[in-house]
Amino acid sequence: MDNIRRVASEAIQKIKNSDDKVLESIKFEYLGKNGILTKILKSLSHYSIEDRKKIGFEANKIKTILASEIKKKERCIKRDLLAKKIRREKLNCSSIFCFPFSKGSFHPIVQTIQDMILAFKLLGFSLADGPEIETDWYNFEALNIPENHPAKDMQDTFYLDGTKSLLRTHTSPGQIRVMEKQKPPIKVVVPGRVYRNETSDASHSSTFHQIEGLEVDKNVTFLGLKMILTKFIHNFFCCKLDIRFRPSHFQFTEPSAEVDIQCLFCKGKGCKICKNSGWIEMLGCGMVHPNVLRSVNYDSEVYTGYAFGIGVERITMLKYKIDDIRLFYENDLRFLRQF
Ligand code: DAH
Repeated sequence: MDNIRRVASEAIQKIKNSDDKVLESIKFEYLGKNGILTKILKSLSHYSIEDRKKIGFEANKIKTILASEIKKKERCIKRDLLAKKIRREKLNCSSIFCFPFSKGSFHPIVQTIQDMILAFKLLGFSLADGPEIETDWYNFEALNIPENHPAKDMQDTFYLDGTKSLLRTHTSPGQIRVMEKQKPPIKVVVPGRVYRNETSDASHSSTFHQIEGLEVDKNVTFLGLKMILTKFIHNFFCCKLDIRFRPSHFQFTEPSAEVDIQCLFCKGKGCKICKNSGWIEMLGCGMVHPNVLRSVNYDSEVYTGYAFGIGVERITMLKYKIDDIRLFYENDLRFLRQF
């Protein structure tokens, strides 16, 4: 299974970096008659029925994802070719209503969210969302954050005047909304925008993005959490970085941990960015607190789960070596055109 997923991440990376000539050969290499995935599917008869089912399901899923990524890339290439052709022929396009001469692109934060979702999809997660305007129950209480907890302080939370609503301070309420609607097994990621009442500086912003992850089932363990996050980090950064889990505290998980990755800037040697520690903090995670499971009427004796929350801006800054979070919101085209 690991092999199939590695093949998939490798293929997605190749598709992203391809042009029209290379794309055709990538399609052939992975999805053609003698392509890598076709070969995997053909080799299923060597496995037990149980494994055949698992591998077949995974390989077919990845085949569909790759086919759709290739289609997307083909559309982009076609659009670029058309734009180039029109520029070359110097056609008078003034009558064509709002034809996009210069190619637009996704905002780097959107790109990171899309890349992260794809990486989690390859690990079997589905996708959900939740509202940005939340109630106290979803944002705090159902997550085992009691009435007098400092996180609920007016200093951190934007409350909406004259209502009992607030702007969600994290994507964790997405966990509650998914569990309310579905019974286990659950394996889902919830991306979204979140808000904190704090002053902006190079590493803080009052609006930012997170991706929440949640798996709940009968035998979900901390080991499962470690495996998933390690695979995600290796796939996302496309290399084998060192990773460490540090004990931490979150109200909604017990035990809780924070995950650090080896500093990408100095490869763990120590530099200004990692404050000479060689490590960079990446996310919070842990085993879902039984009180959280009880708040959605799950039997906490039967089910266990893990959850994690990843800051999208932080990861994007690491990936592209950006040192000021405010650049993401200024919409300066000189910055945006680099992505
Ligand atoms: N909600 C936390 C925050 O915004 C992040 C987080 C930590 C989410 C641990 C989780 C978790 O799901 O298990 O700081």
